[in-house]
Amino acid sequence: MSLVYLNGQFLPLEDARIPVTDRGFIFGDGVYEVIPVYGRHPLALERHLDRLDHSLSGIRMENPLPRSAWRSLIAELVQHEPDNNQTLYIQLTRGSAPREHAFPREVTPTLFAMAKPLVPPPAHWLHEGVQAITHADFRWLQCDLKTTALLANVLLRQKAADQGAAECILLRDGYLTEGAASNVLVVVDGVLLSPPENHLILSGITLSLVMELARQYQVPVEERPVTESGLRRAEEIMLTSSVREIIPVTRLDNQPVGNGKPGPVFTRLQSLYQGIKYA
Ligand SMILES: Cc1ncc(COP(=O)(O)O)c(C=O)c1O
Repeated sequence: MSLVYLNGQFLPLEDARIPVTDRGFIFGDGVYEVIPVYGRHPLALERHLDRLDHSLSGIRMENPLPRSAWRSLIAELVQHEPDNNQTLYIQLTRGSAPREHAFPREVTPTLFAMAKPLVPPPAHWLHEGVQAITHADFRWLQCDLKTTALLANVLLRQKAADQGAAECILLRDGYLTEGAASNVLVVVDGVLLSPPENHLILSGITLSLVMELARQYQVPVEERPVTESGLRRAEEIMLTSSVREIIPVTRLDNQPVGNGKPGPVFTRLQSLYQGIKYA
């Protein structure tokens, strides 16, 4: 039977309860991770746990569990879920306390984790590509932290959904940052470009895996700022995320990207990525 983990206990999802005074509910005062699991093996687990540490220290929370306890907790959760391929969700909040913005003096963090079946992106997304729109990046300046305060991302993704697009690609001060819930890679003049890792984007784990594959297999890559005009004249655009893996964008703001079909760099990276999922 599928079980979730809440504050030291494995229990059915319906029985998992937290107080309404939890600061995650009241302030979005928490962080999370999403880890893809293939054949019951969490992909790049240590990188996800490293990023969780980064997010926690960014919001000045201590990690309540040592790394070994995280590994056992995750292994147990993965075993409880009937499907072999899963999406693992982990969330920590600062805990429950009377409502006051500043941190409470004594508080116990809330730790929640669940696994659910991994739903792969529709096959036609890979064969035909998806549509994306662009929008001004109106999020805060600490996008390197994976916090549960996702209202801006929610509103931006909804703008895409309203137009039948799969993602909203964000521009800040004339430069590409990332998607509402994905990183963005572009191919310009045959070079795979990724915006620099900084406080304006999440350091995507899928992105890091894809960039390593590209370097390993001699795809020309560069980490450098991508201008809006670079984005608009890109031969290829790709989205990466743990849940959607790599998705080609073939229409941007109703204009074709390149020749309007998934390109050769996407095809190469997609096949290389499939090769590491079960490794
Ligand atoms: C804003 C944002 N950027 C990038 C990503 C991709 O990160 P990862 O590849 O680690 O899933 C996500 C994932 O949900 C995200 O929400």
